[in-house]
Amino acid sequence: MIDPYAYRERFPILHDCIYLINHSLAAMPATAEDRLLEYARMWRERGIRAWGEGWWDMPLTVGDQLGRILGGPPGSVVMHQNVTVAEMVVISCFRNPGTRNRIVYEEANFPSVRYLYQAQPELEVVAVEDDKAIVDAIDEHTLLVPTSHVLYKNGEIQDVEPIVRRAHEAGAHVVLDCYQSAGVVPLDLAALDVDFACGGSVKWLCGGPGAGWLYVRPDLAERLEPTFVGWQGHARPFAFEPELEYAPGVARFLTGTPNVPALYAATAGYDVIEEIGVERIRERSISLTSLLIELLDDAGLEVSSPRDPERRGGTVLVRTPDHAAVHKELGERGIICDFRPDAGVRLGPHFYNTEDELRRTVAALADIVETGAYERHAGAAARF
Ligand SMILES: Cc1ncc(COP(=O)(O)O)c(C=O)c1O
Repeated sequence: MIDPYAYRERFPILHDCIYLINHSLAAMPATAEDRLLEYARMWRERGIRAWGEGWWDMPLTVGDQLGRILGGPPGSVVMHQNVTVAEMVVISCFRNPGTRNRIVYEEANFPSVRYLYQAQPELEVVAVEDDKAIVDAIDEHTLLVPTSHVLYKNGEIQDVEPIVRRAHEAGAHVVLDCYQSAGVVPLDLAALDVDFACGGSVKWLCGGPGAGWLYVRPDLAERLEPTFVGWQGHARPFAFEPELEYAPGVARFLTGTPNVPALYAATAGYDVIEEIGVERIRERSISLTSLLIELLDDAGLEVSSPRDPERRGGTVLVRTPDHAAVHKELGERGIICDFRPDAGVRLGPHFYNTEDELRRTVAALADIVETGAYERHAGAAARF
């Protein structure tokens, strides 16, 4: 089992507060600062030569590092700014879909993903209640099935295998959003046989903003032709040819100039996750979330995340009166978490959190609810 004290020194913010918001923005590894300085040094000293000394290839080299964490072979992951862009690149492969234009997605998908599909005039969106309903809704008109591996609100793990099986039977493609699982729930994208997967780095991967990723099943990467493409996706970008010729493989899923500083920062997080290994992080995560649920039960607070650890990701959702006000009071007591207005307060411990931090959090939560200390924040706004 992971000893959190072996890692806490590497995450400076842990000195200052109880940091339980790893499902939103995980703690920054101190090495991210070093990487950003290295980026600035390259820019200052190497200037334009930096492109040839690594910068230009970073969407692929960093993607390969993520591939090792996600179970994708080399050359199957490219870096983008965020999930929304990554999913748009996927959509752009299927222009003029004819009667196979239906998108079957789960109501509990992250809203940005919903908005993107809803905004596509050529697509018909069918929103269904849960992972089982997705399987039933897939038919020969289904084009894409954007599904979350772990639901963002309550941390529920979705049963992906039957979805992939049914989608492939019907000739549809699955786009698996792994933002809430990558770095905390083990993944083997190749074994799952998903067509596409995407995520970002701010959460459990400890990589900070601006480093979204897209996995494309290698055989599809050779065949599909994304229409949202740019010069990084060209076979010979530096020939500046007038006609598009797609790069071989996953490189064709790139657009323009990459987000270099974000990629520097992100590798600091991936290094720690690779060093520890997601299997070991998962073991620690289950132990922490199980303790958290036990403590919340003992305190008489209502848990609304799955109790079965097999179905639970890294986050525990707890219902309280006035989630926004309770969250604000917790923040004032040095406990950093978040809430979703219609769902509850989200507590997401990572491998570096301690059992003692969880005990202190639940004690504070119980006190805030029992004494009504949250009432002074009535009307608190819903941001972060
Ligand atoms: C499951 C999931 N998908 C996507 C996102 C974010 O999407 P984007 O990277 O486009 O901001 C989040 C949260 O920020 C999320 O929890």
